[in-house]
Amino acid sequence: MAPAGPVITADEAAIARAAQVLRRGGLVAFPTETVYGLGGDAQSAQAVARIYAAKGRPGFNPLIVHVADAALAAQIAQWPSAADRLAALWPGALTLVLPLRDGHGLPDSVTAGLDSVGLRVPAHPVARALLRAFGGPVAAPSANPSGQLSPTAAGHVKPGLADLVLDGGACPVGVESTIVSLLGAPRILRPGGVSRETLEATLGAPVLDGPEEDQGTAPRRSPGQLSSHYAPRAAVRLNAETAAPDEVHIGFGAIAGDVSLSPTGNLEEAAARLFDVLHAVDAQARPIAVAPIPEEGLGAAINDRLRRAAAPRG
Ligand code: TXA
Ligand code: MG
Repeated sequence: MAPAGPVITADEAAIARAAQVLRRGGLVAFPTETVYGLGGDAQSAQAVARIYAAKGRPGFNPLIVHVADAALAAQIAQWPSAADRLAALWPGALTLVLPLRDGHGLPDSVTAGLDSVGLRVPAHPVARALLRAFGGPVAAPSANPSGQLSPTAAGHVKPGLADLVLDGGACPVGVESTIVSLLGAPRILRPGGVSRETLEATLGAPVLDGPEEDQGTAPRRSPGQLSSHYAPRAAVRLNAETAAPDEVHIGFGAIAGDVSLSPTGNLEEAAARLFDVLHAVDAQARPIAVAPIPEEGLGAAINDRLRRAAAPRG
């Protein structure tokens, strides 16, 4: 394993140094508005191989490619009119899955050999500055070992994962991007930081849900959507209005619990706190009970992550 990379405050000099690390094929953990990403040069097969190795990520699970703007995205992928409409939500917590364009310049490993690519323009000022300083596409999964909790603070990033960790504080959104496939009619492959309600208002049309397995050809779901994921070490029990004496109770709204995602029942606050609370509670190594969270707005993404955290470990 690589030596533990230093954690440095993400000022201008640090961002320039991080861009240099990327140019040399190294890995940089950096803040986005959703979660910290483990970034590498998306055009370098070696850098991409290092990302998979560092995370212990299965090679069939493609990476999201981060770009500075929609113009660069449209050089990498084909650009249907729905992409134009949804790109109004960029920069932001939205990943679009689009057909690759000829001459896209990415090694096969980034997309796990698929003929589509997930693209995102992140909004976090540090992520934007890093993409500008580097000047090309950056492949970045969440900066956690495969299957473990996502990092929403620099301190959550395991030592040794990256050559350098840019500390930009806590991630304001706190759940990963919403992944929308535009390979057919717009379809949510993973609920995330942009709600279905916002997507539908932006498109002016309903958005489908779930895997695209009825299309005849290869399954087009997000291969990373394995059922057990975001897994704390302890057992997780959902929709718990009360907790057993041995359980740590995570509250929401009127259910106070031992620690609350949002005492006022605010779903944005709950999303922003979710992984930090799970990291903290996990350190206690006690079973976890979580209060019910409504399914609307960011609640869909929160419940998706909680269901995966609670799923049987495989
Ligand atoms: O908010 C986020 O999306 C964060 C930050 C760092 O940008 N990244 C992130 O990456 O969550 P990761 O690797 O943890 O999750 C990426 C997901 C996986 O489920 C993967 O299968 C899916 O994106 N994905 C990537 N490319 C895809 C494609 N061409 N088709 C379908 N799913 C794809
Ligand atoms: Mg992840």
